[in-house]
Amino acid sequence: MRPFNPSRVVLLLGSVQFIQAQTTNVSVVVPAAAPSTTQEIPSTHISFSIEQDRWPDWVGTDSANQFTLNALNNLKALTGTPPKIRVGADSEDHTVWSPTVTVVEAEFPPFSTITPYPEATSITVGDGFYQLSKWLPSGTIMTWGVNLGLDNATNAVNMAKSIMKAFGTSAVKAAGVTLDLIEVGNEADLYKNNGLRPSNWTQAQYVTDWENIAGAVVNATGLKPGTGVGIQGCAFAGQGFTPTGVFNDGLLTSAPGKVIRQISQHRYSAAFCSGGDFALSSFMSKSSIRSNLTIFSADVAEVKSKGFPYVLGETNSIACHGAPGVSNTAGAALWVIDYTLQAAVQGMSETFFHEGIGYKYNFLQPISLNRSITDGSTLDPPQAPHVMPAYYAAILVARAIGTTGKATIAELSISQSNISGYAIYEGGKLVRAVFINLNAWLLSSTGTRPSVNIVLSFGSNGPKTASGRRLIISHADDTSGLTFAGQSYETSNALVNGTETLQTIALANGFSLSSTEAILLSFN
Ligand SMILES: *[C@@H]1O[C@H](CO)[C@@H](O)[C@H](O)[C@H]1NC(C)=O
Ligand SMILES: *[C@@H]1O[C@H](CO)[C@@H](O)[C@H](O)[C@H]1NC(C)=O
Ligand SMILES: *[C@@H]1O[C@H](CO)[C@@H](O)[C@H](O)[C@H]1NC(C)=O
Ligand SMILES: *[C@@H]1O[C@H](CO)[C@@H](O)[C@H](O)[C@H]1NC(C)=O
Ligand SMILES: *[C@@H]1O[C@H](CO)[C@@H](O)[C@H](O)[C@H]1NC(C)=O
Ligand SMILES: *[C@@H]1O[C@H](CO)[C@@H](O)[C@H](O)[C@H]1NC(C)=O
Ligand SMILES: *[C@@H]1O[C@H](CO)[C@@H](O)[C@H](O)[C@H]1NC(C)=O
Ligand SMILES: *[C@@H]1O[C@H](CO)[C@@H](O)[C@H](O)[C@H]1NC(C)=O
Repeated sequence: MRPFNPSRVVLLLGSVQFIQAQTTNVSVVVPAAAPSTTQEIPSTHISFSIEQDRWPDWVGTDSANQFTLNALNNLKALTGTPPKIRVGADSEDHTVWSPTVTVVEAEFPPFSTITPYPEATSITVGDGFYQLSKWLPSGTIMTWGVNLGLDNATNAVNMAKSIMKAFGTSAVKAAGVTLDLIEVGNEADLYKNNGLRPSNWTQAQYVTDWENIAGAVVNATGLKPGTGVGIQGCAFAGQGFTPTGVFNDGLLTSAPGKVIRQISQHRYSAAFCSGGDFALSSFMSKSSIRSNLTIFSADVAEVKSKGFPYVLGETNSIACHGAPGVSNTAGAALWVIDYTLQAAVQGMSETFFHEGIGYKYNFLQPISLNRSITDGSTLDPPQAPHVMPAYYAAILVARAIGTTGKATIAELSISQSNISGYAIYEGGKLVRAVFINLNAWLLSSTGTRPSVNIVLSFGSNGPKTASGRRLIISHADDTSGLTFAGQSYETSNALVNGTETLQTIALANGFSLSSTEAILLSFN
């Protein structure tokens, strides 16, 4: 605490007036009643996809990983429902089940500066592996992957039966964790590039292979169309194979195809597999965020016309575990907010953010790390479990969705190229809004930090005041030190620290939003 100094206060007031004079006014029309274009935004809109090889580290083995549990329960407290969890990904196609393994045996390649935490090359699991699902928060809904890459029906059936068995155990039942979907094969459109299939393997051959393996799984586990555990379809990486394409090849009319309950596609905005230099500012771009999602528009429409929910079943900023200076930064938190809310507006019901151990794009690092996530250098002492900047995005979005389970969302039309806004409705009535200023304020930025003054108009009967919760970021390229509504989650146990600070906003005057800042308004 500094001693009180009146001359300092005067100076500060002077500079505030100067900043105000520089500020651009941005007028935004906010419909007080839900427009017809609103889309549902489920409580689980931000969910997680876990790389299967280190699932036991993530969730806990002999007891729950308390850090993970707290981080997930924070989100559950804000929406009433914990995030959904999908386990699988690349490792899903490198896993075999064995009757003699208790939990897991995995082999990992050496690490490198580009990939400090590489994925396992082979994973052998036993029944205990799937039963670790009991350590997730009560109410968690899961998707588990089985191996299509190996093209071995016996192994796929072994995995699926072990998954079904886990969810029938008293421990998993008592935990209140349920199995929703089984996914047969991860990113099968890449098999022809990664050696799991010949280089001339086609989408039509995929459909035949999938029907063989998924058909055996469905037969052995007794999955039925329309009820109980279902199948997640597609899970493609790129645009080589598409939902529309495999539907045309007859996927849905096959016996296992009739058990499909949801369609998933994956998206990363770039790839760091061989390293590279990515500009954070290219991610903090309203137009790039939209163009990365609208590539799916035709498939979303096709999938929904068939009556299936459409999800980004695996997504994050930059493939191959993220890029330093982008994925691990505060700017990425703003990217997550705009990306997920935009995905909802585009009709995607969930966005499953991919997580592993030591990945640069993780929302949380759930165990202590003895190697740097950015270059693999030794951390001595090791770094304790901690949340990363993107976690704050999940908190803000969870609070924006709220606890009713009935929220809908519409994008607001904003003339500024890097400022986005969304309105949230419940029962057709405006309840909240989110504004994001994506203009990058970096450690290298100089001069006065720019801001805009956002002035809302509602037509008649609009709210007069709002409570504001700000996501405060010092610099877009910071990797820690964020606060949301004055509170921090950067604690040893992921439990929130500090007193919540709400700003009362008289809407007639508008409110300021600095470059690299987001605000959640709750209307009174
Ligand atoms: C912004 O609007 C306020 C009144 O709402 C006005 O005083 C100010 O001059 C405007 N600023 C600019 C740059 O137009
Ligand atoms: C298929 O998997 C089963 C069970 O893991 C194994 O016994 C069998 O050898 C595999 N078949 C082939 C052709 O690899
Ligand atoms: C694909 O390539 C293999 C050789 O790798 C060949 O035997 C097969 O006939 C090819 N299939 C098609 C459909 O061209
Ligand atoms: C599944 O069972 C049906 C009915 O017994 C059988 O016709 C079909 O060939 C089986 N599918 C697979 C892939 O084993
Ligand atoms: C929007 O942000 C992107 C990335 O920082 C930048 O390239 C672009 O110039 C910005 N647009 C405006 C109008 O400032
Ligand atoms: C996706 O976003 C990245 C990063 O902003 C950008 O470089 C790329 O061009 C975008 N891709 C598409 C298809 O819009
Ligand atoms: C780092 O941790 C891993 C386990 O997470 C351990 O196997 C390894 O020996 C540790 N390395 C050092 C240098 O302590
Ligand atoms: C909570 O924040 C205060 C003030 O920044 C700090 O002194 C304290 O150590 C924090 N507590 C925890 C549990 O992180």
